Amino acid sequence: MNASDTAAGQVEIFNYGVVRQFTIATVFWGVVGMAVGVLIAAQLIWPELNFNTPWLSYGRLRPLHTNGVIFAFGGSALFATSYYVVQRTCQARLFSDKLAAFTFWGWQAVLVGAVITLPLGYTSTKEYAELEWPLDILIALVWVAYAVVFFGTIARRRVRHIYVANWFFGSYILTIAVLHIFNNLELPVSLWKSYSIYAGVQDAMVQWWYGHNAVGFFLTTSFLGMMYYFVPKQAERPIYSYRLSIVHFWALAFTYMWAGPHHLLYTSLPDWTQSLGMALSLILLAPSWGGMINGIMTLSGAWHKLRTDPILKFLVVALSFYGMSTFEGSMMSIRTVNALSHYTDWTVGHVHSGALGWVAMITFGSLYYMIPRLYGRKSMANMQLVELHFWVATLGVVFYIASMWIAGVMQGLMWRATEPDGTLTYSFVEAVKATYPFYAIRLAGGLLFLSGMCLMAFNTWLTVRGQSKVNPAVPLYSPDARDPDYAVPAPAAA
Ligand code: HEM
Ligand code: HEM
Repeated sequence: MNASDTAAGQVEIFNYGVVRQFTIATVFWGVVGMAVGVLIAAQLIWPELNFNTPWLSYGRLRPLHTNGVIFAFGGSALFATSYYVVQRTCQARLFSDKLAAFTFWGWQAVLVGAVITLPLGYTSTKEYAELEWPLDILIALVWVAYAVVFFGTIARRRVRHIYVANWFFGSYILTIAVLHIFNNLELPVSLWKSYSIYAGVQDAMVQWWYGHNAVGFFLTTSFLGMMYYFVPKQAERPIYSYRLSIVHFWALAFTYMWAGPHHLLYTSLPDWTQSLGMALSLILLAPSWGGMINGIMTLSGAWHKLRTDPILKFLVVALSFYGMSTFEGSMMSIRTVNALSHYTDWTVGHVHSGALGWVAMITFGSLYYMIPRLYGRKSMANMQLVELHFWVATLGVVFYIASMWIAGVMQGLMWRATEPDGTLTYSFVEAVKATYPFYAIRLAGGLLFLSGMCLMAFNTWLTVRGQSKVNPAVPLYSPDARDPDYAVPAPAAA
């Protein structure tokens, strides 16, 4: 282990308190959000699991799941890792402890608000932006505080260079602010009801400009920030090509913004807008794969570590799923492919190959790296449990996405099949019936993934309450130019 990382004595220098809080919140919300995912997966097989209770009905729990996993689990992980990385790579304490604490408690208040209001049926009806206006305002306030803390820390950095991970985190913070504010411009008519200021096709266009960039910046760019710090640290190798990481950043940030219309193919959105969205989605494959290759090639010379290091396995498998889901997304943006995939479970499979395979796996790897260092331990309390987590999670994703792909293609083909006289070959309900076995396989995959999350929670608890403090007298960082903590760009590979 790199001596620079054993950070027990650095509490006064860095603000690790808020990082710890967000880390524990990530684990907690991961269990909650995924448990709700498993429940709704089961409801699709046994609808009676709503117990005839409105607030347990599928339509209310589904947004609870998406908000729970994206904003509670993913969001807390992003706060934790961005605060950790920005302090380490800038060699500076967070700009303001008070504001950082406000972001923690403010964000948790938003999440608790979501847990209460969504099951009660309060919703603005915009996907991934369902929360009503009082919570929207709180989100905006927390986000501004987040931006001040993050960019303020960069401003007070003690090294000249701004390490590339911070560019990715910074762009996600700025973009989410703009997206959140413009998509949620709404007229309140009561405390818990508002109407969007946009109407008709403009409303759809703004919503999917938001929705796609929520994927692009909340679920991708930000997690690439994690990748650019934790992969080189865990592999103990420099980034394969620092130059490529800069090209990757600008190309990705530019291209993502235009791709939203691929969610609205064959709608009343103007045709040229749909074509533009499709073209830019295809172009998006290049920077996406550039980043994936940069991450994976960072293991050059360290491949042997994959045999024994479960943390590295999480990180590398996450990158593989990132490559797979972005390839799939670009293909699904082609109109003729989308004509088959849209409305089917293929989309749900694509979502979870990104969400479970990429977002959750890179989070697990990064947290397993960070937790021992935050609590002054040598490693997680039980590394065999980390290994077990890796395998159940990987198996879970495969069950989930393979079943949804098959179900999706089957549904699309059944819906479009016609007899020679032009009548439909299958009724809708026949397609639903044919999907049941695949829903059962998805549920099994979800249960595996959730059990992995529970193992992580247990292991985190063991680690946190453990006694093995490491030597606090270690140096702050190692003067190794290849170490991201030293913030000198590594030499680009030839
Ligand atoms: C145990 C793990 C999980 C299970 C069992 C699960 C299950 C589900 C189910 C059943 C749906 C509804 C699909 C439908 O309406 O047909 C769904 C939707 C969704 N889930 Fe998950 N999920 C899990 C984890 C996650 C994670 C970790 C994320 C994100 C980081 C995520 C993001 C989403 C999103 C974005 C949707 C909406 C998809 C769409 O509208 O097409 N899920 N999930
Ligand atoms: C090059 C990158 C990507 C492209 C071009 C892309 C493209 C697409 C397309 C065409 C759809 C289907 C739209 C529809 O028919 O309704 C879609 C849905 C979706 N994708 Fe991707 N995708 C990419 C990467 C990702 C990644 C990495 C994730 C997750 C981390 C992700 C999450 C989602 C979600 C959540 C939806 C469902 C939205 C909804 O209808 O609720 N995508 N994507």
